[in-house]
Amino acid sequence: MNVSRPPELPFDLTDPGFIADPYPGLNALRETAPIVYDERLGRRFVTRHADVRACLRDKRLGRNFRHLGTEEEFHAEPLDPRWADFWASERWSLLWLEPPEHTHIRKLVAAAFTPRAVESMRGPAERLARSLLESLGERFDLLYDYAQPYSITLICELLGVPTNRHRDLLDWSHAIVKMYEFDTTDAQAIEANDAAREFRAYVLDLIEERRAEPRDDMVSGLVEARVDGERLSDDQIVSTVVVLLNAGHEATVNTVGNGFRALAAHPDEWRRLVSGEVPAAHAIEELIRWDPPLQLFERWVLADGVEVAGEPVARGERLALLFGSANRDPRAFAEADRLDLSRANAAEHVGFGGGIHVCIGAPLARIELAASFEALAQLRPTLHLVEEPERVPAFVIRGFQSVHVAR
Ligand code: HEM
Repeated sequence: MNVSRPPELPFDLTDPGFIADPYPGLNALRETAPIVYDERLGRRFVTRHADVRACLRDKRLGRNFRHLGTEEEFHAEPLDPRWADFWASERWSLLWLEPPEHTHIRKLVAAAFTPRAVESMRGPAERLARSLLESLGERFDLLYDYAQPYSITLICELLGVPTNRHRDLLDWSHAIVKMYEFDTTDAQAIEANDAAREFRAYVLDLIEERRAEPRDDMVSGLVEARVDGERLSDDQIVSTVVVLLNAGHEATVNTVGNGFRALAAHPDEWRRLVSGEVPAAHAIEELIRWDPPLQLFERWVLADGVEVAGEPVARGERLALLFGSANRDPRAFAEADRLDLSRANAAEHVGFGGGIHVCIGAPLARIELAASFEALAQLRPTLHLVEEPERVPAFVIRGFQSVHVAR
């Protein structure tokens, strides 16, 4: 046994009891050790804010290794050929790539996903949040009736995806993101693979339509984007649209659920939002810090001689960065377990990542979430839970099944 390695994780990431409230367990772990190897999961878990931040910025750590070496060399399972359609949709996703391909695709996506395009969503976001809330009755599901149609409508509007396919997109997306969990079953993988195939066929049709008749939307922008005379291929556009649609609504929807659940448990903080004492744009940073919708992202060690939290880590090892733990680190945030909407440094949370993969959608997410919580606080100041919501049984993508609320 390697004595320099601290013990394995003291909890099971798939245990519903742990998922219900992972923070006491994460706090205890973080105070025991900055980095913990788990034999069963074959990964090292990084627990503290400064170390998670340093890992995100370290170019010797990558989301993928396949540009440098084989699966054997990196002790990775080969990609299961049964899920070929899913892998094809991932192939050109920004989240699958490392430089130089990542640099190239990210520049082209940024050329279409401009600050002007994002800023143009502010008015529509504010109007949509209000009109959805005005159309809802006494009791509703904050996720199904409000947060989901809100986020999917906005991302589809930005991309130029017609409204009649919104429910298909939600279904495809829910199926696909199950592939990012630790305990994906074969049945879930089959669904994800089927969803990826249908999603791809749909986006290819959309590309054809926009190529024939460009509009003022992002799919047209991606078709036309050029950097140094190069364009995106159809496969690259498909992966980009899939990742923008998936990343573009799941985390945002879950932030509304997690955030409102946090406020319901802290009525004084909710009142500070309702009274306007704390602007919604500030409050959402603390809500993301306190209960982030994405709890863990991974990195492969791509080079020799890397140290994390003062410990050498070998090329080929896998690191899991614990965002929820980093965001509750008292070294970075005073009284880190306390929800304080006016916390001055709340935006130093790692919820949007960092380094070359930093969330490209963060400016849009911030506009959307601020408009969403502002509308809730203004139009439904007495909103409350009608029952304790039930967690989705998954650790990485953290959200609720539903959040039933009433005026
Ligand atoms: C509250 C909402 C959101 C959260 C918490 C979030 C979080 C993140 C995080 C943590 C990463 C980095 C992953 C890593 O380093 O391994 C990321 C990347 C990304 N996000 Fe977001 N995101 C949100 C909303 C959005 C939205 C609205 C969009 C698009 C419209 C989006 C698109 C992306 C994309 C494309 C990437 C990959 C960037 C790259 O690899 O270069 N996200 N997001």
